[in-house]
Amino acid sequence: MINYEIKKYPDPILRKISSNVDIFDNAAEELVSEMAAIMLEKNGIGLAAPQIGICKRIIVFKTVGEDTETVEHLINPQIIEASGSILAEEGCLSMPKIYASVKRYACIRVKGKNKFGQEVIYETDKFWAVIIQHEIDHLNGKLFIDHLSAIKRRLLISKYKKQMSKD
Ligand code: CO
Repeated sequence: MINYEIKKYPDPILRKISSNVDIFDNAAEELVSEMAAIMLEKNGIGLAAPQIGICKRIIVFKTVGEDTETVEHLINPQIIEASGSILAEEGCLSMPKIYASVKRYACIRVKGKNKFGQEVIYETDKFWAVIIQHEIDHLNGKLFIDHLSAIKRRLLISKYKKQMSKD
């Protein structure tokens, strides 16, 4: 396993637009499992490939069943339907220890591919819809703080910088 590191804000890689995956080979499969392992190790609930420095359109996210915990993945995800709105508190492994309420669609239908290149469609709402939208944003170089007003964003960034200089 390659020792990937989580890229932290303001790393410029987090602002890049990721490219589609069009070869579904072992490398894609391995990357998905490594991303899942890193996310679990860091106690995250979602992770996008650019957060480990790889600008490919791959996201992983945790889903929780009654007594199971699984990691799902989506490659080249695209929101094909969205409705409603929800305000939920978000955080990000690339901006540790800061949180803010962000407005998102409450229900989404998202289309993508699995690691074998097969088409998959997820229909999800609330918590999972928020995570998937947050992770897809990463593929477009967007962070959750970009959804805030300029004043709130500035406050949060200065809080984050103070926090980081302490660590
Ligand atoms: Co994030």
